[in-house]
Amino acid sequence: MANVVLDPKQHPEAILPDLSKPNPLVKFTKDDIAFVYGSKWKQRYFTKRGDDYYPLGAQWDITHQIWRAYQAAPGSDWWTAFYPNDNMQRPTGPLCDGCHSVNYDIATKTVTEWNVGCEKCHGPGSLHVAKPSRDNIVNPARLEPLHASDTCIQCHSQGQPLNNPINGKYYDWPVGYKVGTDLRDVWKFEEHKLGEQSFTHFADGTAHKNRMQGNDFVQSVMYERGVTCFSCHDVHGTENNADLLKPATVMCLECHGTNSPNGPHAASIEAHTHHKVGTPGGDCVDCHMPKIEQTIADVNVRSHTFKFITPGDSDSLKVPNPCTGCHSDKTTKWAADALRSWKNLSPWRVAPSNP
Ligand code: HEC
Ligand code: HEC
Ligand code: HEC
Ligand code: HEC
Ligand code: HEC
Ligand code: HEC
Ligand code: HEC
Repeated sequence: MANVVLDPKQHPEAILPDLSKPNPLVKFTKDDIAFVYGSKWKQRYFTKRGDDYYPLGAQWDITHQIWRAYQAAPGSDWWTAFYPNDNMQRPTGPLCDGCHSVNYDIATKTVTEWNVGCEKCHGPGSLHVAKPSRDNIVNPARLEPLHASDTCIQCHSQGQPLNNPINGKYYDWPVGYKVGTDLRDVWKFEEHKLGEQSFTHFADGTAHKNRMQGNDFVQSVMYERGVTCFSCHDVHGTENNADLLKPATVMCLECHGTNSPNGPHAASIEAHTHHKVGTPGGDCVDCHMPKIEQTIADVNVRSHTFKFITPGDSDSLKVPNPCTGCHSDKTTKWAADALRSWKNLSPWRVAPSNP
């Protein structure tokens, strides 16, 4: 994973936009920036007051190369109810830093290191460095699947500490969690009521916001069967997008195939997808991981429930389906009719009623 938190005094190149170009949203200069945060989708800036950091009021949208305002609106994130609507009264210690550092100490406000360092996933490492042995380091690959994925879900989920506030402050990250232990002892997922769309969820329970891979993945059959986040990702870095072990379609087919008990149950891949292999609509992720979870403005990341969202779900529950997400000139009725004509699929599941 990339080093998203950088001090611009040591890494001036980390600031992506040109701060010398005036913009009404940008009321700060290079000298106000203590930390630059983010390098892929969006970049935010922290300033230091006393021993706390605070987010500045503008963020850089990397995809569109434009400035956007940055201030969580009241009624959006759950914690906005407990903090004034003023960035300078929203310190990053309780609201951000636990997921963007190693060993953030809530009493001293210090870290062992910024960013997602080794010890965040492998536990304390000094004994291991002094005398390397399997017994004095956590290897997530040797944890059972539940704790294995918790290693990732501690940061890749939207939730709240079970006991909040802690010493009078409301935290947005799992304070006290250590890899290999039960995340559930300190953290609960953001709640969701089926049928209701919220800040975090679509009405069917699929995540609506970024950084919810954990909330999504636990709903999947793969999670139930012991597949983990790192069955697909190698967080130490790979040459593929999103640190995938292999390019997505190749990787899915390591465990899936027409002769695999894992499915898809069809005579050929094309018989399953009804689109040519290697064309849009022919890749597994096109239908099983649509880009519908918002990270900034219209820039979305992929869902991780892996389920197929039907065109009918879009009509009744307002959750985007992958068919008309790509065929944007067509109606949900067109998509449902097409699905019903694909004889290998169950109409009761994929197109139960006429939209
Ligand atoms: C975001 C979590 C995460 C971070 C950060 C991380 N690792 Fe890992 N590491 C894992 C996971 C998960 C595995 C097991 C599966 C795999 O190899 O992807 C692993 C496996 C390993 C292994 C292989 C152990 C074996 O038995 O083969 C080594 C060595 C290792 N990590 C070293 C490091 C070092 C050194 C760092 C820091 C530079 C680091 N890791 C940072 C999650 C992480
Ligand atoms: C300490 C919190 C933390 C933990 C633990 C963590 N992540 Fe991340 N992860 C992050 C942050 C922060 C980023 C954003 C990095 C960036 O912007 O490039 C990220 C990015 C990623 C990405 C996207 C990379 C890209 O370039 O698109 C993947 C995939 C990922 N993490 C998987 C995992 C997996 C798998 C695990 C568990 C083995 C894990 N993470 C554990 C915080 C964490
Ligand atoms: C519960 C853990 C958690 C908390 C709390 C958290 N983050 Fe993150 N953050 C992540 C993870 C994981 C990612 C990786 C990308 C994703 O999944 O969206 C990320 C990504 C980001 C990115 C985008 C990185 C990129 O390269 O585009 C920025 C910017 C960011 N976080 C800033 C913040 C700020 C500011 C706060 C506090 C207001 C905060 N984060 C709170 C876990 C967290
Ligand atoms: C079955 C494989 C698989 C599993 C399991 C899986 N992912 Fe992913 N993940 C993917 C694929 C495929 C992508 C999209 C890559 C792309 O678009 O190029 C992705 C993308 C991501 C991204 C980048 C955001 C985006 O959508 O581009 C993050 C962060 C991430 N995964 C984290 C996780 C975490 C955390 C878990 C476990 C809770 C997890 N993944 C489980 C396959 C998987
Ligand atoms: C490490 C092996 C592994 C990888 C890699 C993998 N899968 Fe799976 N997948 C499984 C297993 C195991 C099941 C459960 C099969 C069963 O028990 O019926 C499953 C089930 C599924 C299902 C059925 C879920 C449901 O709701 O019924 C879908 C869809 C799926 N996988 C999509 C994907 C996609 C897309 C990828 C690539 C991004 C992928 N898988 C990569 C192992 C894997
Ligand atoms: C054009 C859309 C589309 C593409 C592309 C696609 N699927 Fe599916 N997939 C579906 C639909 C629709 C279902 C049926 C969902 C249901 O019954 O709830 C399904 C069901 C499945 C299932 C569970 C049922 C079964 O037959 O075992 C698995 C596993 C699966 N897909 C894997 C994959 C894999 C692996 C790929 C990539 C090779 C892929 N799918 C590509 C649309 C697609
Ligand atoms: C990522 C984009 C993408 C997704 C997702 C996708 N398709 Fe397609 N689809 C295409 C493209 C591109 C073509 C044209 C292929 C060609 O002309 O060879 C096509 C062709 C078709 C056709 C035949 C051509 C026509 O216009 O009559 C039908 C029917 C169809 N798709 C239905 C669906 C349905 C139903 C789904 C959801 C299960 C779906 N598609 C998902 C991209 C997509």
